Amino acid sequence: NYYAVIMAGGVGSRFWPLSKANYPKQFHDILGAGETLIERTFGRLSQTVPADNVLVLTNERYKAFVNEQLPKVKDENIILEPAMRNTAPCILLAALKIYKSNPDAVMIVAPSDHWIEDEASFLKNLNTAFEACATDNSEEKLLVTLGIEPTFPHTGYGYIQYLDNTTEVKTVKAFKEKPDYNTAKEFLAEGNYSWNAGIFIWSARAIIEAFEKYLPEMFSLFNDGYDVLNTDDEAQFIEDNYAKAEDISIDYGILEKSKNVGVIPATFDWSDLGAWGSLYDKLDKDKDDNVIVNAKVVTKEATGNLIRTRAGKVVIIDGLNDFIVVDSSDVLVIMPKAKEQDVKIMRNEVKEKFGAD
Ligand code: GDD
Ligand code: MG
Repeated sequence: NYYAVIMAGGVGSRFWPLSKANYPKQFHDILGAGETLIERTFGRLSQTVPADNVLVLTNERYKAFVNEQLPKVKDENIILEPAMRNTAPCILLAALKIYKSNPDAVMIVAPSDHWIEDEASFLKNLNTAFEACATDNSEEKLLVTLGIEPTFPHTGYGYIQYLDNTTEVKTVKAFKEKPDYNTAKEFLAEGNYSWNAGIFIWSARAIIEAFEKYLPEMFSLFNDGYDVLNTDDEAQFIEDNYAKAEDISIDYGILEKSKNVGVIPATFDWSDLGAWGSLYDKLDKDKDDNVIVNAKVVTKEATGNLIRTRAGKVVIIDGLNDFIVVDSSDVLVIMPKAKEQDVKIMRNEVKEKFGAD
């Protein structure tokens, strides 16, 4: 009864110039680990979920990447979105499809582009969550999140306030998506807050009922096509209706509103690989604290740099500290690590000036 839904529709613009709108980061081997992020994600999930029960949600322009990188995912399990509408619409559609093929299904919804070090711990947390959802019989059904111990007032995450009860799945008092900096600081000072890892576990029935209650228009829009789901007419229905859905994330649309959210404090190391600096943090450093991916590098008086090039390129770095040096076939970026968030802005400037991505 276990299913997995991999979300792979994002663009990953903070990993430009490697990640581009026509080739986003989840389809790259960002870590230089010998497999792409989505391959790694599939490998992780398919240890618990049969490959036949894995669905992939992505934009229609990324179909070829999914076919090539995840050959074990059945064609009918790949949902191709004609427009970007954030995470709520694609999750509802996947849940309806899954429910139709198995009303007792319990599913994990996971991003395709995260980094998880300790897979065994992750799978243990996952099984705890699966079991809790499978045996839940509350009136408003349980939605489980995985919580990450916060280390600083990050404003790009969801914050989960929980009761420190002894159960494995802790009761959530409040879910606040992307608070401003001061609010995030207060949360950290208060304690008993987790970051939302963006990985969710629930029964198909639980999340469908939540949509019916909290996003009723979206629910009706897709539920009207229930009869054609998993048939030859499904693709046409999605083509005709998907873009009509509200552009909203599952966090704002459902989790902030639901009255029965649980959190399992994650026992694994996690990063959402949000920007180049996160890669620096995760990978092994050389004796001068440089991280080198793919490149053949000679350094002198250079520390704290992230140097990532196309395989085999020779790079000489002399007198440079705490910089990002990354290239693609047509772009080279050299900028301070502290300004990693600005990559997105620079990318837009390049698009305006030269018309290329
Ligand atoms: N299929 C599909 N379609 N996937 C999408 C779409 C879409 O239109 N939009 C985003 N995604 C995918 C992204 O590729 C990513 O893997 C995942 O859904 C989450 O989207 P993000 O855009 O990265 O969300 P976020 O980072 O702002 O916030 C979420 O993740 C944080 C942790 O990384 C929230 O869940 C936060 O609460 C959470 O802390
Ligand atoms: Mg994200």
